[in-house]
Amino acid sequence: MRRTTFALVILLLVGALLWACENRRSYRQGESLYKTHCASCHIDDGLGLRGVIPPLAGSDYLARDPTRTACIIRNGLQGEIIVNGITYKEPMAAIPQLSDFQIANIINYINSAWGNELGYVSVPEIRKRLEECGGR
Ligand code: HEC
Repeated sequence: MRRTTFALVILLLVGALLWACENRRSYRQGESLYKTHCASCHIDDGLGLRGVIPPLAGSDYLARDPTRTACIIRNGLQGEIIVNGITYKEPMAAIPQLSDFQIANIINYINSAWGNELGYVSVPEIRKRLEECGGR
């Protein structure tokens, strides 16, 4: 009985470690993809350009629905939006060449960068969201 408990504890620890490593890997890849595909507009620090490019750091719009970002990346975004009380209306073009996997990594980066605490997303979760917004 005690041995079973011990084995279970070890298993849980290994699981937690693997999960933390996967989180970290996704974040690192997302960071480099962000620099290539997003930072030209949203800037390295995620603050954007007030009134023209909305921020991703501390964005209430992002926080309200963190997986919606998958649809924004795949399909682009047009029309007026309000982020932290400021109106933005420049369109964002779609970035269709990014895979579901790359999109998940970018989201795992922006959801935890710059003090954001919006949690980890898995690839299947992102794939499901993309199907719902017709982004396939
Ligand atoms: C060419 C400039 C440009 C690039 C590149 C770009 N965006 Fe955007 N993004 C915008 C603009 C402009 C808006 C506002 C769109 C609107 O008002 O309808 C926006 C809106 C957003 C929003 C919703 C508003 C917010 O700030 O929470 C998210 C999330 C977002 N972009 C994420 C990304 C990510 C992730 C990438 C890279 C994969 C990216 N963007 C690349 C210009 C850009």
